[in-house]
Amino acid sequence: MGLWRQMLRTLPFGPSGRRRGTQGRAFGLWPPCPPLPRLLNATELVSHWTGIFEKRGIPEAQVSSEYIVAHVLGAKTVKCSVIRSIRRERMPVQYILGEWDFQGLSLKMAPPVFIPRPETEELVEWVLEEMSQRPHVIGQDGPRILEVGCGSGAISLSLLTQLPESQVIAVDKEEAAISLTSENAQSYEDPVALDGGDEGMDIITDILTLAPRLLKDSGSIFLEVDPRHPELVSNWLQSQPDLYLNLVAVRKDFYGKPRFLHVQRSGP
Ligand SMILES: C[S@@+](CC[C@H](N)C(=O)[O-])C[C@H]1O[C@@H](n2cnc3c(N)ncnc32)[C@H](O)[C@@H]1O
Repeated sequence: MGLWRQMLRTLPFGPSGRRRGTQGRAFGLWPPCPPLPRLLNATELVSHWTGIFEKRGIPEAQVSSEYIVAHVLGAKTVKCSVIRSIRRERMPVQYILGEWDFQGLSLKMAPPVFIPRPETEELVEWVLEEMSQRPHVIGQDGPRILEVGCGSGAISLSLLTQLPESQVIAVDKEEAAISLTSENAQSYEDPVALDGGDEGMDIITDILTLAPRLLKDSGSIFLEVDPRHPELVSNWLQSQPDLYLNLVAVRKDFYGKPRFLHVQRSGP
């Protein structure tokens, strides 16, 4: 672990990356490593560490350093040869890693959606600073924020997590950006908003318990649920015959997961 941490300090996140670090340092009882001459890409880093391992008589120096660099890059099962070839094609390391940090959030990154610049964190900080100085302008309902051109959602999501009372609308003209922002948003959804108890059923059973009082005979409820819920809902409804509710249909979402429920009232 110490070794991986040590190697992380030298990872090549590019001239604009925030994880800069060019100093090699000693680990264990080894004498200090010479400082790296400059930022290295993944392939160069593998060679660098292969050289060090060979000099110190570590067996399988090349393979070891490939796996360690791959692991540090978050791609435990990806051989560095893959990384090497995609780096050769100049694919940004953020796309290779599939994620990138922004304001303490780990966000998914995927081409062709824009990779947020580290400088953009300063914009977020400026907005937060303004907000903290002008609480009277924001009012009781919290700030309402519109981001035009949200890309991966970095700005919107970092504002939303740091101003949890805010309402944020993020728009982009690219479908890929919208879906990446939604995916990233799901990872940072307010846990309370999704907290349905141990099996996630609490809110669903509350709604279904209330339903007979609100629905006409043959009235319907449509629910969007977690894929494990259709079966749980079906079992729960069978155990509650006094509710006179039936699960009449389950539909899959476009990923093929059972996601939508149609529940209908069928009695007094
Ligand atoms: C430079 S990127 C910035 C993305 C994000 N704000 C960030 O800092 O990471 C600009 C984004 O604006 C979007 N965009 C460009 N023109 C737009 C328009 N007319 N309406 C909505 N989005 C637009 C692009 O698709 C792109 O995702």
